[in-house]
Amino acid sequence: MTAPQDSPSEPEPALFTDDLISPTIAASLPPTYILRPLRKSDYAIGFLDVLRVLTTVGDITEEEWNERYDWMNSQGKGGYYIMVIEDQGKIVGTGALLVERKFIHHLGLVGHIEDIAVAKDQQGKKLGLKLIQALDFVAEKVGCYKCILDCSEANEGFYVKCGYKRAGLEMAHYYDGSTSKDMQSKAS
Ligand SMILES: CC(C)(COP(=O)(O)OP(=O)(O)OC[C@H]1O[C@@H](n2cnc3c(N)ncnc32)[C@H](O)[C@@H]1OP(=O)(O)O)[C@@H](O)C(=O)NCCC(=O)NCCS
Repeated sequence: MTAPQDSPSEPEPALFTDDLISPTIAASLPPTYILRPLRKSDYAIGFLDVLRVLTTVGDITEEEWNERYDWMNSQGKGGYYIMVIEDQGKIVGTGALLVERKFIHHLGLVGHIEDIAVAKDQQGKKLGLKLIQALDFVAEKVGCYKCILDCSEANEGFYVKCGYKRAGLEMAHYYDGSTSKDMQSKAS
């Protein structure tokens, strides 16, 4: 009988592959900061707390988190690109790119930037800008012909700094159970 061998530990799988991480943007972060795709274990290191700077999140159990993550990683595969910035074992920023597959524009792909959030004590260090640039990199690489987003007037200047410009008008129709002020003022 052969003795069991130590298998080298595999890196934890993530929501998308590392080739979609811009090396230039990753290298431009301060030394302890890591730009990477979301992982299931980010539940335990503050991912949801970062989102709380943006809007209400609610109490999400680990089981609920796992279920949503697994859905994004299976049925939603290729549609959800959630980027995080980690600093010393803690999530400090996040942003999402949703890829919409259309018939128009010859089966065009449109990127939707959503849920950009940087922890309060980390704001003003260009992490938000780098998250947007990192999501733009993914969008271009997966074949989107444009990226769009909704934001409040208060954040327009930030997105202008990121290269976005005002285009069109946002409209919304909230349904029963989604009428709280928080939902209506959702910022991106
Ligand atoms: C908005 C947010 C993502 C910006 O992230 P950040 O890391 O603090 O911003 P950055 O340091 O990357 O800023 C990049 C540039 O945008 C500017 N900027 C940042 N927020 C701005 C705002 N609200 N209005 C105008 N300019 C802004 C910065 O001054 C900086 O300009 P500079 O290059 O001339 O110095 C962050 O403040 C945040 O998480 N806010 C709460 C959640 C939220 O509102 N998210 C956006 C949803 S639409």
